[in-house]
Amino acid sequence: MTVTIVGSQLGDEGKGGVVDLYGDAADVIARYQGGDNAGHTVVEDGTEYKLSLVPSGAVRGKVGILGNGCVVNPKTLFEEIDTLREKGLDPDVRVARRAHVILPYHRVLDNIEEDVKSDTDIKVGTTGRGIGPTYEDKAGRRGIRVGDLLDPEVLRKRLEYVVPQKRALIEDVYNVSLADVDDVIEGVNVQDAFDVSALFEQYRRFGERLDEEEMTVAAGKFLAETIDEGGEVMFEGAQGTSIDIDHGNYPYVTSSNPTAGAAAVGTGLGPTTVGQGEVIGIVKGYLSRVGSGPLPTELGDIDDQTGGTGEGKEDEIASYIRDEGGEYGTVTGRPRRVGWLDMPMLRHAARANGFTGLAINHIDVLSGLDEVKVGHTYSLDGEELETVPATTERWERCEPTLKTFEGWEDVDWDVVAEEGYDAVPDAAKEYLDYISDELDTPVYAIGVGPGREETVVRQNPFE
Ligand code: GDP
Ligand code: IMO
Ligand code: MG
Repeated sequence: MTVTIVGSQLGDEGKGGVVDLYGDAADVIARYQGGDNAGHTVVEDGTEYKLSLVPSGAVRGKVGILGNGCVVNPKTLFEEIDTLREKGLDPDVRVARRAHVILPYHRVLDNIEEDVKSDTDIKVGTTGRGIGPTYEDKAGRRGIRVGDLLDPEVLRKRLEYVVPQKRALIEDVYNVSLADVDDVIEGVNVQDAFDVSALFEQYRRFGERLDEEEMTVAAGKFLAETIDEGGEVMFEGAQGTSIDIDHGNYPYVTSSNPTAGAAAVGTGLGPTTVGQGEVIGIVKGYLSRVGSGPLPTELGDIDDQTGGTGEGKEDEIASYIRDEGGEYGTVTGRPRRVGWLDMPMLRHAARANGFTGLAINHIDVLSGLDEVKVGHTYSLDGEELETVPATTERWERCEPTLKTFEGWEDVDWDVVAEEGYDAVPDAAKEYLDYISDELDTPVYAIGVGPGREETVVRQNPFE
């Protein structure tokens, strides 16, 4: 039996919390895509853990796998493991030998490309972690895999091929002098990032540590054996469906597939194995987004709210949700764009992922509003759309047809979580029922706060 946790919107829906919620029944938690662009939060007994590479099951002491579909920065992986150890956890993480490695030059290239795009409307606002350039090299058959770090001869050969190309790309294509990018990227020595010997030494040592700590694994085989022996496996998606490279608002996307199909491809199990299990769509009760891209249900204009007058009713609601939900960038502190729930986006996600259940979070954040709205459908060129258009240009031109719900009062959500579904305010139940009906998918869990206990559980997918 497997359970796949997938972001149904734009990332940060609360996937880490749901992995933790249901993780007790799992033996192994496997990530299948993405890298340290993710930031998954688990709050246990008031202690907050932020996990970027280590699968969220670590908080419950579960074995974590980084599958072949992931891109792994060994430096951040080791730093994260060390930090978690200082916090008293003992993460047991195994990395697929087929997973690709993020090297410092990927981070430099990610940042330079964003910089080059900064005057255009195709700037993505990436996390700067080198995710895109690493997946480019994977597809370009010039990537370095985790298994290569354990074989110095192969590692050196691969670096000797690829590093001069990267240097030429920066100097001759982007016309950037490496001296100019120094200091720009935290934690990266730009000179060493393009030096074969320096990279070889540093990454060979990472390989040694991975080997010494027996951290590499044939992920598919390991997971298949776990299942054969009766173990329970959970797949932890990162990012979300609307930033999926195929199903999202391209080009404002990440470079992997957060959608559920990738749980098979990105771990080495068959789609029949993943498909026989449950696929839980994680839904945030409203929308928030860090950077560029369409957001038809956006509330007000972020520029007004941050620089201008911000007096309109929509701006006021956006500010309310932003403050209640802490919708400010984790690194930059920049306010995020905020919008009502978008049903065309969710219908698209439900189809692309085949959700068998939903976890709807942040119901507490919406409390205290007079009314809560959702984008029920879109209208585009006189046509009503139930789901999102394939091109982002058309998506951007969509106007939402809003549906209004009565708001629900702010209550003691800890009490609600303790007493269960009956204690959820009636107006919130109507909102949840609507989402469930529209997506033809039952609600398994309702998030009413960040903590593990602050969830109303209606069903456990492992039971
Ligand atoms: P992920 O990337 O999908 O795992 O989500 P993040 O951890 O990046 O962002 C979700 C944020 O919302 C975290 O700070 C969580 O602790 C918090 N959170 C999750 N569920 C709820 C909820 O139901 N209510 C509230 N108020 N916060 C929540
Ligand atoms: P979790 O797993 C929210 C966004 C970035 C950017 C785009 C591409 O915590 O939900 P990338 O660095 O991946 O090339 O950036 O994707 N992005 C996320 N947004 N949550 C995430 O992860 C994200 N990971 C990437 O902001 O718009
Ligand atoms: Mg996150």
